[in-house]
Amino acid sequence: MAKVRNSIRFLLNDTVVDLDRVAASDTLLDFLRLEQRLCGSKEGCAEGDCGACTVLVGRLADGELRYETVNACIRFVGSLDGCHVVTIEHLRGADGGLHPVQQAMVDMHGSQCGFCTPGIVMSLYGLWMSNAKPSNADIETALQGNLCRCTGYEAIIRAALAAASAGGQAQDVLVSERDKVTATLKDLADGARVEMGEGDSWFFVPASVDDLADIRAENPDSTIVAGATDVGLWVNKDMRRIAPAIFISHLDELHRIQETETGLSIGASVTYTEFQNMVATHFPQIAGYWNRIGGEQVRNMGTVGGNVANGSPIGDTPPVLIALGASVTLRKGKEQRTVAVEDFFIDYGKQDRQPGDFVEALHIPFPAEDALFAAYKVSKRRDEDISSVAAAFHIKVADGKVADAVIAYGGMAATPKRASTVESLLTGKPWSAQTVADAQAGFVDDFTPIGDWRASAEYRALVARKLLTRFLLETTQGADDTMLRREAVA
Ligand SMILES: Cc1cc2nc3c(=O)[nH]c(=O)nc-3n(C[C@H](O)[C@H](O)[C@H](O)COP(=O)(O)OP(=O)(O)OC[C@H]3O[C@@H](n4cnc5c(N)ncnc54)[C@H](O)[C@@H]3O)c2cc1C
Ligand code: FES
Ligand code: FES
Repeated sequence: MAKVRNSIRFLLNDTVVDLDRVAASDTLLDFLRLEQRLCGSKEGCAEGDCGACTVLVGRLADGELRYETVNACIRFVGSLDGCHVVTIEHLRGADGGLHPVQQAMVDMHGSQCGFCTPGIVMSLYGLWMSNAKPSNADIETALQGNLCRCTGYEAIIRAALAAASAGGQAQDVLVSERDKVTATLKDLADGARVEMGEGDSWFFVPASVDDLADIRAENPDSTIVAGATDVGLWVNKDMRRIAPAIFISHLDELHRIQETETGLSIGASVTYTEFQNMVATHFPQIAGYWNRIGGEQVRNMGTVGGNVANGSPIGDTPPVLIALGASVTLRKGKEQRTVAVEDFFIDYGKQDRQPGDFVEALHIPFPAEDALFAAYKVSKRRDEDISSVAAAFHIKVADGKVADAVIAYGGMAATPKRASTVESLLTGKPWSAQTVADAQAGFVDDFTPIGDWRASAEYRALVARKLLTRFLLETTQGADDTMLRREAVA
């Protein structure tokens, strides 16, 4: 067994903190505001939506220091072992003056009541550090997870552009002290398993994936916490007990992406952001869809494995994974088994899991070059919203006829589910408006959607049919005729 440490250690701005009393459900935001009195980070929603609590978290990923914006309200302190947490207070210059991003917000009148401002500054700081010449679209993407109710985003976008023109990245503390921070984080990484607390406060930070397998097998009732973008809400909104928790976001082995000729194998903790390059390279058809999962902070934290493991009927990746014929590897102790993602979801809240197992990897085949493939999301808000209906289509057409069709929907049933009647009504027929119109009759056999506050049952049924029509139009006439583009409504 790995050696065990009973404390959490991380770098907070420029100070190493060593904590021997942390509970599984302690959030970073509470720690900052209540214990450290670093009150610049604000609590707006406590559910990852508003971005007022945004901080940067740096982590050594395979030895390289990488920073990302995260929502401190749903990030657990226990998951920060070995990280560098950078809060708004760290942006103060050596002379106490404003950071270029802050100065730009002042100059461009980017703040009114100011409640959202620290979070917006941190998101823009993350952008400023990573992209010296951001386009308006880059800035909008960076701000997807930051809600401002009073200023209006025009002034904030002007501030982002002004900060980029002001430059100064080379003098920034995260650049000038990069080597020092890297050395500190390397010192902190002692390869130990962390185990802390008891009862309701109990949690583990495994030393490796093998160690995770051991801990999980010994504690089958534990809560695995990857990005915490679901579990954080269970704690803050449902007051749920998560102990014993097992934090896994630091395990490099679960962040690996392996490419073969036919597809990708990805570790369960690959985040949406980490998968972004793979989307651009191998699945460009879903680039727009991917950018509509959460906001930037949620994509930095949330994992594909977590989206599958949570078994939600409205997760955005399961329809895509099912349409592509993906499979999931589950591990229990040393044993592994692999099941098709579509068979993994058995019923509402019930997946093909065994006590003591965990999701280790996902295997995602590439679509054939001549296959028709797309995914669509319909939600109440464009950005950072959960789907009312999500759909993924993967169709092979040979000699003008549908040779094979895999169509999967989220939000239409108790689980993510294939439209198998519609698929069979399409197969063997010409890929045409008439075939689609005929096949749409099959939706009533495939789905009996429910109505809830997101969408009525009738609306869901209508959207499901219309998305198939949209897919036909886009694959036969081109996307431009069917897409309502941002520029068109600006
Ligand atoms: C503001 C906001 C916006 C969101 N927007 C979207 C959206 O647009 N689309 C969408 O689909 N989702 C969205 N979500 C939900 C969430 O981000 C996703 O479901 C995400 O993929 C969950 O991954 P995670 O790593 O954060 O999971 P966690 O919260 O860490 O865990 C979720 C569940 O999976 C389990 N789990 C995690 N990893 C493993 C593993 N390796 N093995 C076994 N069990 C595991 C956990 O025990 C838990 O039951 C949003 C959430 C928030 C807060
Ligand atoms: S307080 Fe709203 S995202 Fe954290
Ligand atoms: S300035 Fe008031 S919420 Fe943004």
